[in-house]
Amino acid sequence: MRLNSHFLELKDSYLFKRIAQQVNEYKTENPDAEILRLGIGDVTRPLVPAVISAMEKAVLEMGGAATFRGYDDAGTGYGFLRSAVSKYYADKGVTVGEDEIIVSDGAKSDLGNILDIFADDSVALIPDPVYPAYVDTNVMNGSRIIYMNGSEVNGFLPTPDKSVTADVIYLCSPNNPTGAVYTKAQLQLWVDYANETGAVILFDAAYEAFVTDKSLPTSIFEIGGARTCAIEICSLSKLAGFTGVRCGYTIVPAELKSADGISLLALWKRRQTTKFNGVSYITQRGAEAVFSAAGLAQCRENIAYYLGNAKIIGDALSGLGIGYRGGENSPYIWFTVPGGDSWAYFGRLLRERNIVGTPGAGFGSNGEGYMRLTAFGSRENTEKAAARLKTQSG
Ligand code: MLT
Repeated sequence: MRLNSHFLELKDSYLFKRIAQQVNEYKTENPDAEILRLGIGDVTRPLVPAVISAMEKAVLEMGGAATFRGYDDAGTGYGFLRSAVSKYYADKGVTVGEDEIIVSDGAKSDLGNILDIFADDSVALIPDPVYPAYVDTNVMNGSRIIYMNGSEVNGFLPTPDKSVTADVIYLCSPNNPTGAVYTKAQLQLWVDYANETGAVILFDAAYEAFVTDKSLPTSIFEIGGARTCAIEICSLSKLAGFTGVRCGYTIVPAELKSADGISLLALWKRRQTTKFNGVSYITQRGAEAVFSAAGLAQCRENIAYYLGNAKIIGDALSGLGIGYRGGENSPYIWFTVPGGDSWAYFGRLLRERNIVGTPGAGFGSNGEGYMRLTAFGSRENTEKAAARLKTQSG
C-alpha cells in the first residue's frame, strides 16, 4: 500500500484532542480536582423546546409505515429545511435560493470536504491565528498554505495584500479564536480582491448568531459582489446547541464559476451526493424548528446566556488589568497571557486554578502569547472560573 504522505506532515494530534489528553492525565492524577472546562467551544445549554418537540414528532413519523422516510432523495437536504434556511437569510436581507443551500452534518466536515472540488496543488490563504481544522485539512490535502498575519496591529482581522495571490481564502467572522468581527467595509475589500484575482472565499459563519452589533455583517452575502466569489459554510452547533446532534449547511451561489465557466454549486452537489448520504430526517426536522419564530427566540435566549458568561469572564480579566478581545459579538474571549508562553500558562491554569483554556499557540504562531476561553459553560462554572481567575497571582 501507499499512504497519503501529507498526513505525516501533520502535528501528532488535533489541538482539542491534545488538550483533552492533558486534562485527562491531570484528572487521573488528581481525581478530586473540580476542573472547569473553558477550552473547546462546546455548548452546555440543552436543545430548546421547539427543537425537542419537532424531533419527537419526527421520531413518531419514523415509527409509522405511512410516514416513515428512508434516504433523503435529493441528498442535499429536505426542501422544508432548505426553505427555512433561505427564509432565515431573507430576514437578514440576503437572497439565497433554496437550491443553493446544501445541508450537511456540520461546518467542520464541509470545510474539510470542500477541498475535494479544488485542484490538489491549490494555494490556500489562511489567517494566523486560526481554527486549526483549516490548516490541518489543507496539510492533509497537500495544498500550499500562505499565512496572513492577524495581530494587535490589525485587530486580528487581516485584509488583502495585493502582492499575494491564492486560490482559496479562508475567512471566519466572528472569528475563532479571537472573537474579532469584520466590518462590511473590510469584507468588501476581500470580495473585491477575490473577484479581481479569481480566488474563492470560504466564509465560515459558524458564530454569526453571536453578532449583537447590528452594523456588523453576519453573512458574506451581505457584501456586494460576493455571489461571484464566495461560499458560506455555517452550522447549527453554536446557534442552536447542535454540537451533539450534527447539522449545518453550505451555500454556493449559482453565479460562482471557475475561470472556464464550471459551476462550483454543481461540483459540490456532485461531491456530496457521491460521498454523503445526508443528515437524518429527525435531525433535519429539529433544524427546521430552529428557524421557526419560537425556535429562534428560544435559541437567542441561550445565546444571551452565553454572552452573559462572556461578560463575567471579561470583567474578571479586566479586574486583573488583563486586556482582552471578543466576548461581545462572540462566545470567545482572547487575552494576553501573563508570561507570554501560552502552553506554559495553560499548564499553570490547569494545575493552580483547575481551569482549562485553549493556548493561543494552538491556533498558529501568531496566537503565541494569548489564551482563549469559551463562554459556552454553565453560569455556575463560569462564575466559579471567574472567581478563580481573580485569585490569579501571575
Ligand atoms: C472550538 O473550540 O474551536 C470549536 O468548538 C471547534 C469546533 O467547532 O469544531
